[in-house]
Amino acid sequence: NPEVFILAIESSCDDTAAAILQNDKVLSNVVANQLIHSQYGGVVPELASRAHQQNIVPVVDAALRKAKIQKEQLSAIAFTQGPGLMGSLLVGSSFAKSMAVALQIPLIAVNHMQAHVLAHFIDEDGFEKPSFPFLALTISGGHTQIIKVDDFFDMTVIGETTDDAVGEAFDKSAKILGLPYPGGPLIDKYAQLGNPKAFAFTKPKVPGLDFSFSGLKTAILYFIQKKKLENPSFVEENLNDICASIQHTIIEILMDKLKLAVKETGIKQIAIGGGVSANSGIRSTLKETENKYGWKTFIPKFEYTTDNAAMIGIVGYQKFLTQTFETSAVVSKARIQL
Ligand code: KG4
Ligand code: ZN
Repeated sequence: NPEVFILAIESSCDDTAAAILQNDKVLSNVVANQLIHSQYGGVVPELASRAHQQNIVPVVDAALRKAKIQKEQLSAIAFTQGPGLMGSLLVGSSFAKSMAVALQIPLIAVNHMQAHVLAHFIDEDGFEKPSFPFLALTISGGHTQIIKVDDFFDMTVIGETTDDAVGEAFDKSAKILGLPYPGGPLIDKYAQLGNPKAFAFTKPKVPGLDFSFSGLKTAILYFIQKKKLENPSFVEENLNDICASIQHTIIEILMDKLKLAVKETGIKQIAIGGGVSANSGIRSTLKETENKYGWKTFIPKFEYTTDNAAMIGIVGYQKFLTQTFETSAVVSKARIQL
């Protein structure tokens, strides 16, 4: 079997990323974060697109250099087709298309959400790959889904958010507390020092496997406003406990639905993906289910959970094996189904 070298490009939101894979192994995985957005409290699409244009050439160069690969050795180029911000997606797709044409190699379009799920198939020492079927909990700033995965490209969404994504719930809660964007990692950091039972927030009542997070955000807003009237420095004095309580509530919401999904499908293998799976509380709670409920859980290496190009590359490799290629006419899609 000849070696396959894939260059993968990810530019769906605010990170410009490139990776080189040799078959299912990652040779390099480079991400340029756009720090510019933090002062605006969220990603500004126009600024993201412009930053991608500045970053894409140096990021791809760095990925090739770190992998010690010449571009002439590449077998194919994979890029994120969607979902994401159109202006951001177009920078990655245009770059991938011109490079594939110039090198006369195949072009592969990748669904970002499938990539978060399939990141588990990157060959990495110390990390086991799930077997089919398994349940994937994809939790990021843009999505919250429970997916039944029957094969590489046979996935069904069995539950999803009806409003905010779980990452937004973290980020918007953080904003209410006056923390900079993205606030998810900061809530995680302070939560580790606080009491998760200090404050109680009511959980939403959503039927079936779907989620809702917008009510939680409102509940937190009203709670903080009320407490600040009594004591203007309430947030500063109780930051750890507030963060721990918010995180605890979010984890309970996720776990309630996961338990129901396991009950309904009979599948006990759970793989998590998306930026929020970096959360330390979610990770430890999931690990506990192995002894508690006999689940088997899969948590990818940290650099493959947040937006990255290695996960685009592993999907690219699978599609390369089945020769699933595109022409330059392939269009980017802001919204795209699994
Ligand atoms: O997958 P991702 O990098 O980008 C999207 O596709 O959305 O996810 C970003 C999201 C942000 O909302 C960020 O606050 C959240 O993941 N996040 C976290 C943590 N690390 C990143 N949320 C909670 N705890 C963390 N440790
Ligand atoms: Zn993502």
